[in-house]
Amino acid sequence: MSGVKRVGILTGGGDCPGLNAVIRAVAKPAMNAGLEVYGIEDGYLGLIEDRIRPLSYSDVSGILTVGGTILGSCNKANPADFSVWEDGKWVKYDVRDKVVENIDRYGLDVIFVIGGDGTMSGAADLIDRGVRMIGVPKTIDNDLCSTEITFGHNTAVTTASDALDKVHTTASSHHRVMIMELMGRYAGWLTLNSGVASGADVILIPEIPFDINAVAEHCITRSTHGKRFTIIAVGEGATQADGQKFIDHIVENSPDPVRLGGVAKYIADKVEEIAGLDTRSMVLGHVQRGGSPTPRDRILASCFGYHAFELCKAGRFNELVVMNRNEISSVPIKSVANKIRTVPLDHPIIQTAKAVGTSFGVFE
Ligand code: F6P
Repeated sequence: MSGVKRVGILTGGGDCPGLNAVIRAVAKPAMNAGLEVYGIEDGYLGLIEDRIRPLSYSDVSGILTVGGTILGSCNKANPADFSVWEDGKWVKYDVRDKVVENIDRYGLDVIFVIGGDGTMSGAADLIDRGVRMIGVPKTIDNDLCSTEITFGHNTAVTTASDALDKVHTTASSHHRVMIMELMGRYAGWLTLNSGVASGADVILIPEIPFDINAVAEHCITRSTHGKRFTIIAVGEGATQADGQKFIDHIVENSPDPVRLGGVAKYIADKVEEIAGLDTRSMVLGHVQRGGSPTPRDRILASCFGYHAFELCKAGRFNELVVMNRNEISSVPIKSVANKIRTVPLDHPIIQTAKAVGTSFGVFE
């Protein structure tokens, strides 16, 4: 077992369905192989604040279908850039020495880090200090580099599609333009996939800056052709041609402080003003991160966890499990740090949507 006797597991960043499935898929084989498994609470925060506890077989049993994470998570604690509240303001510290001290004290030979780009960037910073890590790619946003899919995304797409389907019927009854804002940060995967899955009439993603006049015109055209309602799926990171983002608020003590939001309301107001149509906007929000993982995510998360432990057995540390063209492999964690994967403009799903008349908010 490449000298490994004791392993730690942490779940970092925003939670998503499937985290527990990975914990189970790493911990059970590790325990079966005679290793001791420790759970680190609330992501890197647990390493900083010394909240690390042994996990038993019963802790990791019966959790496959449970949403969230039994270990807790945190999207604010990067050890190299950690905020502490002092004298009425946030002050940043590099607390990696303390983290390494805690890891050594518990004798953790390797840490399985289950997370997205922020968590992998944090892992890359700790690898520099000699910590051994193995990464598993999570996020509803599907924006992690080097992998075509992250677990959690399929469940979020399912939730968002279901919400869009429900809005469809009420939009049709009331002859309204209904705009739903979806998560996904600076990548449009979640909006594109759920928009196409539910037949949204307009899909607005960060990768394709929209023209509000083109959006309004599409609604008018539909109206004059007898379709008296329009469904618009918009990603929270969508922008107009000037590239300015819609920012909801700033989380000062977060390494990634910007929280996006507000684009759906803007579109609703403008379309009403330009086209004189009845509009309603809504923000689907954190419901996209909740609930039980879909069967597809349960399988993906389990396979990712299994492969992560196989890497450990082979002594292949500091790698991230990835999936491309349906095959699981791995890449160095450092190669994905501080990067995101956006939707390519020539992606077949965009072409498919355009072919059935979906507007991306631009004059063609
Ligand atoms: O990265 C996952 C995500 O849900 C994004 O889609 C969203 O922008 C962000 O996290 C929200 O973060 P928070 O939970 O801090 O509001």
